[in-house]
Amino acid sequence: MKLQRIRTLSAIAVFSLVPCLLMLAACSTPHGEPQTDSETVAPSQVSDFGTLYAQNCAGCHGAEGRGGASIALANPVYLAIIDEATMRNIVANGVHGTSMPAFVQSAGGMLTEQQIEVITTEIFSRWGRKQVLDGANPPSYAAKVAGNVAHGQLVFGTYCASCHGSEGAGTPKGSAITNDSFLALVSNQGLRTMVITGRPELGAPDWRGNVPGRSMTDQEITDVVAWLVSRRAENPGQPYSALNDTQQSKAQHPEK
Ligand code: HEC
Ligand code: HEC
Repeated sequence: MKLQRIRTLSAIAVFSLVPCLLMLAACSTPHGEPQTDSETVAPSQVSDFGTLYAQNCAGCHGAEGRGGASIALANPVYLAIIDEATMRNIVANGVHGTSMPAFVQSAGGMLTEQQIEVITTEIFSRWGRKQVLDGANPPSYAAKVAGNVAHGQLVFGTYCASCHGSEGAGTPKGSAITNDSFLALVSNQGLRTMVITGRPELGAPDWRGNVPGRSMTDQEITDVVAWLVSRRAENPGQPYSALNDTQQSKAQHPEK
């Protein structure tokens, strides 16, 4: 018994000593400190959520998912409306025509399928709260029917104009959202998502809070998005797509 333990211990000692001698730097780095030897873990082998999120997402969605240039992902209401498969697909393939890059290697990104799985699963497990919309009868994530533009304009007057102005040109309570430079860089789903979930981190209400006591219906959301989309210039021109490309390559090669 005693002999066996000693053998086991010395085996452990030998096996852990050898790699330590080979990679002295790695073994002597205290926990939590950045390792100077960047070859210790190949980028495709990183499987820690915090590292993956910080390196790939935080620049636009904020540290800890709290929001930045783009929406907060640590928003339980948002995570109750989108499902994991849909999110995984967005992260893998990006959102065409916006600065949301494709991350999966097969689509030109830098991450493996497994890394995207880690990111997606942990966003839900860390930041979601399953019960958050119990009894709220939330609208569907994606539009189910085509919207009615004329009705959407009325909806905008009812629910949005108080903060964004009657034509969406902005007021001190909410920015301009019908100008070309905004609409050219946002997808239709991106607009729908913001109407449904708001941007709580910036004080924008979700679909229940624009008019106190009066939630928007699924149809009203679909219609107001159709109206916003109808205000988008058909060919916004080169400046916007050039800007888009720059943002994409920055996102994919943040070290540059
Ligand atoms: C360069 C900026 C940028 C980076 C980096 C980025 N995103 Fe995004 N992301 C965006 C923008 C902008 C949108 C909104 C696109 C639109 O208009 O639909 C978006 C949209 C999304 C959406 C969909 C939102 C919706 O409407 O349902 C998800 C999910 C998402 N990003 C997750 C991630 C994750 C996870 C990462 C890191 C792996 C990441 N993003 C990195 C800019 C970025
Ligand atoms: C109580 C005020 C308020 C109401 C009502 C409101 N919003 Fe907002 N909205 C905001 C604030 C605050 C923001 C975040 C900061 C900003 O962009 O002004 C915002 C942001 C947005 C954005 C993102 C803008 C950006 O630059 O990223 C969109 C799109 C938007 N709102 C659409 C709507 C629509 C459509 C409605 C009506 C269905 C609506 N909002 C109702 C206050 C409001």
